[in-house]
Amino acid sequence: MNERLHAITTKLSEHLHSVIEEFQITEDELKVALQFLTKVGKSGEYPLLSDVLHVSIAVDRVTHAAEHDGKSTESNVEGPLYREEAPILSHPVHLCAVDETEDEILYVSGQVFSTDGEPLANTMIDVWQANGKGDYENEDPTQPEFNLRGRFLTDEKGRYEFRTVVPGPYEIGKGGPVGELLKAIDRHAWRPAHIHFKISHPGFKPVTTMLFIEGDPWVNSDSIGAVKESLLLKLEECNDLGEKIRRGIDRKFYTSKFDFILSRA
Ligand code: BEZ
Ligand code: FE
Repeated sequence: MNERLHAITTKLSEHLHSVIEEFQITEDELKVALQFLTKVGKSGEYPLLSDVLHVSIAVDRVTHAAEHDGKSTESNVEGPLYREEAPILSHPVHLCAVDETEDEILYVSGQVFSTDGEPLANTMIDVWQANGKGDYENEDPTQPEFNLRGRFLTDEKGRYEFRTVVPGPYEIGKGGPVGELLKAIDRHAWRPAHIHFKISHPGFKPVTTMLFIEGDPWVNSDSIGAVKESLLLKLEECNDLGEKIRRGIDRKFYTSKFDFILSRA
């Protein structure tokens, strides 16, 4: 017998029974709930349901609680939009493969350290994000393949820098049953603007995480509940002529610093 599955199933039905008692759930309501779950299954929206019920982020929390020693960078959910084998980019790293004029330019830089402060050279940084309109390349036919996705290594001092665009917030899929649920309970589908990362170095625990743009209007009400205080990215506006010339940019741009910390495997 699968003891763990037995214990979880028993506990889950106890919790469901207490909800049924508390809300005096009727047979008609049960029928609607079962029809809803059938539709969720048929439309392949179980991962999305898990996200909006904040189940995915709760599982991320318990999965990584043991390895999060208070020093290493906190993890976050991978989400459904990760693509393996993103292009390997050389320095200086440009994540955006198209004309950036419709969006605001952003430089993200920092260092990767071990929990005891050792800079980690040759750490693999795998990044993916939406453009300023909140669109990911694989859901937007106007963007080229692998736009705003890429992998690159830190230098000999564990440093990294990449040029990209400020991502926009976006709504998670709301055209199916999960969207109907959100509408019925008056919840929005917005995710605050963010950049996803996978950071890995041999001998260290890899971290999958995302950094949120501080000040985003949805940062306190993420539809999937994934915002963590330690993962906020502060953007500084730069309008300095010398800096603009040095970087070959003719308009204001943004910079942001974030150091990643990995714990030993
Ligand atoms: C994302 O961050 O890419 C994402 C997460 C959950 C649902 C949809 C998208
Ligand atoms: Fe995302």
